[in-house]
Amino acid sequence: MLDKIKCVIVGATGYGGAELLRNLLFHPFVDVTRITAVDYVGKPISDVHMSLLGKTSLKVEQLDVLDAAQGADVVFFALPHKVSAKEIMRLFGTGVKIIDLSGDFRLQNKDDYTQFYGAGHPCHEASATFVYGLPELFRRSIRTATRIASPGCFATAITLSMLPLAKAGLLSGPARVAAMTGSSGSGAEPKLTTHHPLRAGNIRAYKTLDHQHTPEIIQTLQAGGAGADFSLQFVPISAPLVRGIFVTAFVEVPAHLNEQDIRQIYRSEYGDEPCIRLLEGRLPEVIGIAGSMFVEIGLQLDTEARDGKRTLVCFSALDNLVKGGAGQAIQSMNILMGWPELTGVDRVGLWP
Ligand SMILES: NC(=O)c1ccc[n+]([C@@H]2O[C@H](COP(=O)([O-])OP(=O)(O)OC[C@H]3O[C@@H](n4cnc5c(N)ncnc54)[C@H](OP(=O)(O)O)[C@@H]3O)[C@@H](O)[C@H]2O)c1
Repeated sequence: MLDKIKCVIVGATGYGGAELLRNLLFHPFVDVTRITAVDYVGKPISDVHMSLLGKTSLKVEQLDVLDAAQGADVVFFALPHKVSAKEIMRLFGTGVKIIDLSGDFRLQNKDDYTQFYGAGHPCHEASATFVYGLPELFRRSIRTATRIASPGCFATAITLSMLPLAKAGLLSGPARVAAMTGSSGSGAEPKLTTHHPLRAGNIRAYKTLDHQHTPEIIQTLQAGGAGADFSLQFVPISAPLVRGIFVTAFVEVPAHLNEQDIRQIYRSEYGDEPCIRLLEGRLPEVIGIAGSMFVEIGLQLDTEARDGKRTLVCFSALDNLVKGGAGQAIQSMNILMGWPELTGVDRVGLWP
């Protein structure tokens, strides 16, 4: 019987915090000892995340992060970017393991960070000490990490749709991506563009060719083997869903490859990956993965070749809060603790 470790969640009242709690409260090797936020202080967390009623007596605390982390083994941060870095840097030197869900420590190039998140990162140079928490590419480094920058939701979905091509040396030049997301991706704070009457019956593009996950995806795919000339044009679209991301990515591959060749490349890369469902005979659907750690991936190769190239369409679907967020952060914790990597998160989604 393993001793349980102590976990703290900073920013527990948001949607990332909710998903961390939904999983960590039932994790066999974890005790969630403290949860913090600014609002709802003193209230039971089940007043905020009503699905937890009767399952925990934890109350929201407003604590200095050093006090919150006292005695903890792992601290999860589910805060907005910038706020996250300011809090996390105060734990440097304490030895506690840090898992950050925000974008603050994902980008190694400071100019990229400033362009997409704005100036004023309090300690960008510390990004070099964080491992990017995408097990499909960095599992070995995660095992020995003490600081994890957990990937973004769009970034996970888009990267995984193309990663086998990068590893096979087949990803170069421009990729074009349109990807839809559900409303929980924008967090718990209501905004004009996320308000139900304007969102429920609507589809709209936003941050077109300017989304902050663009440099994160390029950085990761190039680390995986994509060419130095690899570029990404990415159009995010808000869809009338609560959970889920659906990616359609267009890339050019050499015309001599047929669909079976491409499928073989994906199979040899993803055959043993516990979260990847490589589909044959149908394409990904959000309903297949909502609430679960699974990523559905589908492929279609154009029959027509032009200039020695053929267009490959890579589809993927995942749950932004689970494999695209808190679930993947827990997967990283499991890996760095040496536990089976889907402990506490291994379940199928809701159907229908
Ligand atoms: N939503 C997703 O699908 C998703 C997926 C992957 C990664 N992420 C990333 O994960 C992070 C959290 O996202 P989320 O969707 O959970 O956001 P959220 O729902 O807006 O929650 C943010 C949390 O941070 C707390 N907070 C906000 N400002 C604070 C401050 N100044 N000091 C201390 N706490 C503060 C909030 O508590 P109060 O309300 O009490 O202030 C709340 O608990 C973000 O960086 C996001 O980019 C989100």
